[in-house]
Amino acid sequence: MTSITSEELTIPVNEPVLGTSELAYVREAVETGWISSDGRFVGEFERAFAAFCRRRHGVAVCNGSAALEVATAAVNLQPGDEVILPTFTIIACATAIIERGAIPVLVDSEPDTWNMDTHQIADRITPRTRAIMPVHMYGHPVDMDPLLELAEAHHLLVIEDAAEVHGAEYRGRRCGSLGDISTFSFYANKIVTTGEGGMLVTDDDALAERCRLHRNLCFQGPRRFVHQELGRNFRMTNLQAAVGVAQMERIEESIAKKRWIGQSYTERLQGIPGLLLPIERPWAKHVYWVYGLILDDTVLFDATEFARRLAARGVQTRPFFWPMHEQPVFRQMGLFLNERYPVAERLARRGLYLPSGMALTESQLGYVCDAVRAVLKV
Ligand SMILES: Cc1ncc(COP(=O)(O)O)c(C=O)c1O
Repeated sequence: MTSITSEELTIPVNEPVLGTSELAYVREAVETGWISSDGRFVGEFERAFAAFCRRRHGVAVCNGSAALEVATAAVNLQPGDEVILPTFTIIACATAIIERGAIPVLVDSEPDTWNMDTHQIADRITPRTRAIMPVHMYGHPVDMDPLLELAEAHHLLVIEDAAEVHGAEYRGRRCGSLGDISTFSFYANKIVTTGEGGMLVTDDDALAERCRLHRNLCFQGPRRFVHQELGRNFRMTNLQAAVGVAQMERIEESIAKKRWIGQSYTERLQGIPGLLLPIERPWAKHVYWVYGLILDDTVLFDATEFARRLAARGVQTRPFFWPMHEQPVFRQMGLFLNERYPVAERLARRGLYLPSGMALTESQLGYVCDAVRAVLKV
């Protein structure tokens, strides 16, 4: 057994690392009174993050779900428009489409990258299709070229959900630079965090302007309280952005830490019967936002039982996403009835992720691997 001290139990699924710069910048925001969405840090964070994504514009918002809603509003998605997305994703993706009266159209996932199978998109395109929403899953980029070719051929928008993949690359191109508009989350478990937070990035000047409008109640024109469109208040505060600016100062270090966690887990867990581990395609830079595992058919229990047994050994985990076509809320709305996506259904039932937070230590990682072996009795 790898040794571990008692205070390290339970090992949390995520723990952020916040340093002295975060504290200094938040202190500055508090001391100067700039605590709402005005103040120097919001613009600084937007510029730093957009530059990191190799984009012209960054528009900070209050979370990644809001970023998706601003994106679908900014591109003017209309009732009846169809958007193609993976069924295996977080509900925020589908919500941002449905909020506009538009229709989510699903595709299944690849069994090994857990990303949307971009070869299934062509069959789902209809005259009503307006956009494709790729979602890079758990740190690994989507195979974007087939998707981008279809988008170009059919004049479709690409709304890229890069919430989980800060710094990941597809054929040398950074995730977040691959859509007409791309969104991020900065929740506490993300590679760059602001506690709660999100951002849209784009190269399109007019689209960026529409994002700024839609994060801010669509205040527009000479009479501030006279509105041409409906918007929401999705602004990020200067307090959050202060944390973000500090986090950007060590983003490369954070990505390196995540890759170390991912590669270390793989080294220690590979060869264990019953487990399917994450893969990294030759064209991908995986950032291992979280480290997922799938139980194969030789294991006689499911991911819920796996999680319970790991928890009994002091290891916290999280289940994988539950597919959109199996969501009771969407079934009640008459969506996705009789649709089946076997890969996603399997991932949901057989997958979970291990402690993968920025603060994870080598001894904790070793302990987790020992617990996985013990639960699988190898
Ligand atoms: C792929 C994806 N999109 C969107 C979101 C929503 O982000 P937030 O939790 O900041 O609202 C998440 C959250 O983790 C996510 O994983």
